[in-house]
Amino acid sequence: MRAVVLVGGFGTRLRPLTLTTPKPMLPVGHEPMIARLVGRLARGGVTEVVLALGFRPEPFMEAFPDGRCGDVGLTYAVEPEPLDTAGAIRFAAETAGIDDTFVVANGDVMTDLDVATLVDAHHRFGARATLHLIGVDDPSAFGVVDLADNGQVRAFVEKPAPGTEPSNLINAGTYVFEPDVLDLIPPGERVSVERDTFPLLVAAGGVYGLATDDYWIDAGRPDLYRAANLDLLDGLRRNEHADPVAASAAVAADATIRNSIVGDHVVVAPGATVVDSVLLPHASVGGSAVVERSLVMGRIGVGSHVSDSMIGAAGAVADGEVVRDTSIPPTP
Ligand code: GTP
Repeated sequence: MRAVVLVGGFGTRLRPLTLTTPKPMLPVGHEPMIARLVGRLARGGVTEVVLALGFRPEPFMEAFPDGRCGDVGLTYAVEPEPLDTAGAIRFAAETAGIDDTFVVANGDVMTDLDVATLVDAHHRFGARATLHLIGVDDPSAFGVVDLADNGQVRAFVEKPAPGTEPSNLINAGTYVFEPDVLDLIPPGERVSVERDTFPLLVAAGGVYGLATDDYWIDAGRPDLYRAANLDLLDGLRRNEHADPVAASAAVAADATIRNSIVGDHVVVAPGATVVDSVLLPHASVGGSAVVERSLVMGRIGVGSHVSDSMIGAAGAVADGEVVRDTSIPPTP
């Protein structure tokens, strides 16, 4: 089974972290998000992954120079210009010559879904497209479906106004497609699978949904990217876990690390306190500094206090500075 994985977005919501690292290459529990995703797809029977690349393809090619991620073969499909989600799926599928049932996954979805279950459901439904669905409390920020008792999707509404949602079941970002779905996507154009292709497909019929109660997070938002990391410490995941502190990190004996991930080559100086945070590879925290609920790639000065903030690779907090609800460098 082959899968197209969408990894070419700009990741604007995670700036400034994504100014230097594309979102799917950001670590979740010391491993790039994409490596965890590919590993899970492999456990569900996927043997080949086509990476639908656009913005900054180089870090992916550098991370997997021999065209393999674990046991899975990788094909790189680099768009000449960003084609949005559906345009990217068509471009990637054509680049790889996909002509059979295939899986599509958003590169920033962290879930315990067993993709084999979705593929089985797709064949059982005799569907043209099958969507993985998750029930959430507030569906208005997502694509919401109206699902018939036989699993058929009767309507797909992207980001409905609060109170107008047809159900609480949302598009969870993993699909199984028959190759003729590609015929509905005009070639070489910016086309959104959520706004353009799904409504067309639903009108044509043959779209089904499988709702599961698996762990699921869209890690594209700062609070949820942080949660995707910290949830690996809490044993909330079926097959995934992480140690809090990477072996290559240097953490002073009297520093306090609580409910946090400390990445590769991070330095935490004496007396520092890090709580509910993710320190990404090569970050540094000065002596007696406090870091709370933050995502840090850059340098935190001695005695500073950083809370609810994102510090990019080029970001620095001066000694003694107090930083709250801030992105450094600032993002437009
Ligand atoms: P934001 O800018 O923060 O919304 O993030 P994003 O650019 O990643 O967009 P979004 O989360 O909506 O995208 C869903 C998935 O599609 C992500 O895995 C993106 O990497 C991917 N994606 C979005 N646009 C494109 C595109 O034009 N080309 C490719 N190849 N992938 C895309």
